[in-house]
Order: sequence, then structure tokens, then C-alpha cells
Amino acid sequence: MEGFREASNFGLGQAADTAAFHVKGASSLGWGMKDRLSRIFNPATGRTVMLAFDHGFIMGPTSGLERIDLNIVPLVQYADCLMCTRGILQTSIPANMNKPVCLRSDAGSTILTELNRNVLIDIEDVIRLNASAMAVMFSAGDGDQEAVTAANLARAADLGNRYGIPVMGVTAVGKQMARDARYFALASRVCAENGASIVKTYYCEGFEKIAASCPVPVVIAGGKKLPEKEALELCYNAVSDGAAGVDMGRNVFQSDAPAAMIQAVHAVVHDGLTAAQGYEMYCDLKG
Ligand code: 5RP
Repeated sequence: MEGFREASNFGLGQAADTAAFHVKGASSLGWGMKDRLSRIFNPATGRTVMLAFDHGFIMGPTSGLERIDLNIVPLVQYADCLMCTRGILQTSIPANMNKPVCLRSDAGSTILTELNRNVLIDIEDVIRLNASAMAVMFSAGDGDQEAVTAANLARAADLGNRYGIPVMGVTAVGKQMARDARYFALASRVCAENGASIVKTYYCEGFEKIAASCPVPVVIAGGKKLPEKEALELCYNAVSDGAAGVDMGRNVFQSDAPAAMIQAVHAVVHDGLTAAQGYEMYCDLKG
């Protein structure tokens, strides 16, 4: 004990901080889960801008994703999290960019055939790639695929719970499926009930009910390319109606100025810019 400095700073009279965790529904999760969720959702705002570029796994080389090194790598610095497949991650994203990854963790058919996700990648690969979350599709209302994708999702949640890796349930939109708040609220809620810690779905009228009835954060996909002003309105409306951010792909990488667009999206999601202010920012940066 010689030279041992006695402990004296106990903060007596000062209560320990028991403030709730900043990610919806995650207060009771373990430290590893919370750490990973905190990499995805900014603790200051509780929101995220995920850059989605996993489209190649069903579409092959699509517009804006022909060359990941040229199209996507320059945008990585502006994203809070990357959503992609392991193949693109390990071949084309420099590991020293140090971004959290929401790894596309299911596989199945391409757009050439019917919607179908029946395989999960090995959890060892998810760990090896240091993923912060696993993205797995759930296809509610699809007679052939509903049970298969629910089983995939539940299995991913089991594996994720074992290793502290959260799952993002990705609600599918098949050809015959409705695309309204009732459908997306059902699909989102089922993802959360099956263990997803994040849900990705689509913005629609009545979105506030989807977000309110889902006990975990909901992020929206951008969907097909829109004019930039409309895409920024989509982001603004979504976060105003309770979305915890966006998981956006084509409306960023197919934009006339992708770097300007992702910065404008970031400002709308995190800095409280209106859609009009975001569009002004986009035009300024593009110019
Ligand atoms: C494809 C996906 C996409 O990542 C998702 O739809 C987001 O991309 P976009 O904004 O282009 O819709 O999950 O299965």
C-alpha cells in the first residue's frame, strides 16, 4: 500500500445518473447492444442518417452504384452508418474509414424472380466484420415468404442477442402488398415483436401511427429517386412524424450531387433544418 493514493472523490450527495438511454426501447439491453446502437444513433439527437447501398445484392450494378469506390466512398464521411452487403464492405470500403455498419445479413433471389430471402449469413462473419447491426427482411402478408422471413428475423435476433448485435427488421414491399399505414404499422410492429431493435419501413400518410406503435426506432427508406426538393420533404416529414432518421440510398447516390444531398439530408435529420432550408443548402453545396 506504500504510495497508494487513498480514494476520496466519492461524489457524496450527488445521485448516480440513471437517465434513460437515448434509443427507443433499448434501455434494458446489454452494454454491447447499447454501444452498437449508440454508434448508429447519434446520442445528441437520437437520430441517424444511414447510407444504404446494398441494392446490388438483388439488382446487380444499378445506376449510381456502378463503382462503389468512385460513387460511395466519397460519401461515407457524411453518413452516420453504412448499410451494405459483406461483399461490398470487404472489397470496396476502406476499413480505416471507421464507420458503423448495418450489414445486410440475408440473401435470396434477385429482382429477376420472386421476392425470397431464405438464407442468413453466418453470425461469425457478422462479428468478423465488426458490424454494428444486422439488416434482415421481413415480408408480412406474402403467403410464400412471410413464415420464412419471420423465421429468419427471429433467428437473427437470437444470434444477435447472443453476441450483443442488434437486428434491423426491413419491411418488404412485394408487388401485391398494400403500402399504407395499416400495413406498415403491422409489419413494423411484428419486426419489433420478433426481436428487432430497429425497423426500416416506408413513409406514408399516417406515418405517426407507425412510429408511435413501434416500440423501437423506425427509420425510413427513401424509395425510388425523387427530385431533391421532394426527397428532402420526405426526410423532414418523416422525422417530424416520429422517424428516428433515414436509411436512404437512391435519393442520395442517384442525385445530381450526391455529396451535397447527403449533407442536406443530414442537416434536416440532425440539425432541425426545414425541407426548404435543406434544399437551399443542397443548392448552395451543389453550386
Ligand atoms: C433494398 C433495401 C434498401 O437498402 C432500402 O430500400 C433503402 O434504399 P432506397 O432509399 O434506395 O429505397 O433495403 O432491399
